[in-house]
Amino acid sequence: MTKFLPLRTSRIALFPLLALAACSNEPTHADLPYGTVQQMMVNEVQPTAEIYWGAVKFESRLEPDGSVVEEEFEPKTEEEWTEVADAAHKLQDFAAELQTEGYANDRGEDWLVFADGLAKAAKQAEDAALAKDPDAVFEEGGTVYNVCSACHQMYPPAQLETAAGDAQVS
Ligand code: HEC
Repeated sequence: MTKFLPLRTSRIALFPLLALAACSNEPTHADLPYGTVQQMMVNEVQPTAEIYWGAVKFESRLEPDGSVVEEEFEPKTEEEWTEVADAAHKLQDFAAELQTEGYANDRGEDWLVFADGLAKAAKQAEDAALAKDPDAVFEEGGTVYNVCSACHQMYPPAQLETAAGDAQVS
């Protein structure tokens, strides 16, 4: 009888360990489908936002004769408009992801407010693209940018100079 004892104790000891692992608040890999917040921002959120921000833009050009030419760029083809709408849709997905336990864990209440703000702004941005309204796309792009900045002000990125759209402000 005695010789089975070590086996039994180890089996009993296993249960509390498993329970502990299940209750742990430590985000596991599965909770962070896009990696850390930093990785998600750099690899997903920023490039997607840039597609949207780049869709409608104004450029001033100085001609050789000294005159200034204003040029407006906007999506032309169905595919281009779809790409802009898709980008705004993806931003809503990222916003929803930021509100999940894995990404919101250990953040303040305001984290959820900022993430929800992004979801709403990105929805408006998508609607503007679906309506193929360049002015609205430009305006909603600004609103999206403001939401990015608001969250970064409360949760400053390690390298602020590389952060979202800082170049747009200056
Ligand atoms: C809910 C909060 C929140 C929102 C909304 C948000 N971010 Fe971030 N972002 C962060 C945090 C937190 C960091 C810092 C991550 C770190 O350094 O650990 C960050 C960092 C970044 C960085 C810098 C990453 C680096 O270190 O180089 C970029 C770029 C970025 N965000 C882009 C955006 C864009 C674009 C948007 C809007 C479309 C946006 N973010 C919206 C929280 C947010």
